[in-house]
Amino acid sequence: MEFSVKSGSAEKQRSACIVVGVFEPRRLTSVAEQLDKISDGYISNLLRRGDLEGKAGQMLLLHHVPNVLSERILLVGCGKERELDERQYRQIIAKTINTLNETGSMEAVCFLPEMHVKGRDTYWKVRMAVEATQDCLYTFNQLKSKKEEPRRPLRKIVFNVPTRKELSIGERAVEHALAISAGQKVCRDVANLPPNICNPEYLGNQALELADKYDNVSTYLVKEKEMQELGMGSYLAVGRGSENESVMSVIQYQGTDKETAPIVLVGKGLTFDTGGISLKPGAGMDEMKYDMGGAAGVLGTMHALAELKLPINVVGILAGCENMPDGRAYRPGDILTTMSGLTVEVLNTDAEGRLVLCDALTYVERFNPDSVIDVATLTGACVIALGHHATGLMSNHNPLAHDIVNASEQSGDRAWRLPLWDDYQELLESPFADMANIGGRAAGSITAGCFLSRFTKKYNWAHLDIAGTAWNSGKNKGSTGRPVPLLTQYLINRASNQVSD
Ligand code: BES
Ligand code: MN
Ligand code: ZN
Repeated sequence: MEFSVKSGSAEKQRSACIVVGVFEPRRLTSVAEQLDKISDGYISNLLRRGDLEGKAGQMLLLHHVPNVLSERILLVGCGKERELDERQYRQIIAKTINTLNETGSMEAVCFLPEMHVKGRDTYWKVRMAVEATQDCLYTFNQLKSKKEEPRRPLRKIVFNVPTRKELSIGERAVEHALAISAGQKVCRDVANLPPNICNPEYLGNQALELADKYDNVSTYLVKEKEMQELGMGSYLAVGRGSENESVMSVIQYQGTDKETAPIVLVGKGLTFDTGGISLKPGAGMDEMKYDMGGAAGVLGTMHALAELKLPINVVGILAGCENMPDGRAYRPGDILTTMSGLTVEVLNTDAEGRLVLCDALTYVERFNPDSVIDVATLTGACVIALGHHATGLMSNHNPLAHDIVNASEQSGDRAWRLPLWDDYQELLESPFADMANIGGRAAGSITAGCFLSRFTKKYNWAHLDIAGTAWNSGKNKGSTGRPVPLLTQYLINRASNQVSD
């Protein structure tokens, strides 16, 4: 898809389709009014006859409107003008793109970003329009033998901004959106792959490919032999029941001088989570291929970052592993020695993500990080607490937590903070080891966060539980590409602060 921004008047456009909004009840936006005027009231006549009310998401396609140079006009219902908010705006854009894709217009000029959206500026409106477009054009059909594709797909779209002054803002919005969408696509593609293709080694190969593609990216793979030498007893235990070797990919992006402390992103990369000896029930187990959604999110974010060439240093870790039941598998009752030296009694082999992450989180101490953010499909409890809308955020550092919440608001990829008070820590007590790997049913996401917090005392750290947000189970089953928008926004913000300091 090709995107651009323009600032022009509707009547001068010569395009396959021009997209303009209509508010409820039957109120033309100023752009629609211009077209109405030159066509001698063609549009207002239609509305008067009741063809379009203007309810959000309504679509009406017109052909060869008198005196209009464009072949088609797509009238888009935008709801009540004063109620147009971010959510509605994104939905309207998505519906518009789907309609354009079906109506055979291969190019379009879209005036929807000119509308007023509560509390949002032109940058935001253009960026979300591009992201929503890429989001709804995404397909994953590489493993289908027959691929269905639209006959005349949309190829080129121009978003119109109100003034020429805003052109450069719009262009930057397109640039950011394209990097984020590309990162999201990388994330979705790997997360949608089946576990017989996407295993820890596959993740490692993706990490190596990224380094091949970009000069300032280098990748190093930590395999089981080295994990052994490093004393990563907890990480290794989780992978022991699998025929696929555990691989931890270390991706280093250098965007500024070597001395600048890096931001470290650590992704849980369970390419399949059967639960191990504490086997999961069969129903829906196929979806546990997305238990590498954290690693996929980190990989996608590293792509976006390299594309944007941000002037910061970032290390991305893909903690690849597979949790299988087997004669060699680790068991409930086992006591593991983590890389940090702390010991853990395994009470449930299905609480494996934290066991992989804790060693990865100790490993990254070597980078003297500015801050560390781990990303993981960690707990079913997080889906119960926050559903599929917000990612669970926990942190040992308030400014970092605030920065992440801000980035989540800006990007529309929302996160909500949960507490990590010491009161919860005692739920992890074990009679035999320094701690147990589960804390019981109450506050399951928080006790998982508490577990990780014991390994992150040396740096500023935040934890994102994406169990509810990384995947769609119902219609449009598959990866959502989250939290690539959130993480990339966080990095964009960090880069712009660093430069202005
Ligand atoms: N990968 C799962 C968490 C999960 C569940 C992600 C559902 C996405 C959807 C994780 O490894 C797990 O199994 N967690 C257990 C922890 C429990 C044993 C303390 C859970 O949430 O049930
Ligand atoms: Mn599990
Ligand atoms: Zn898991």
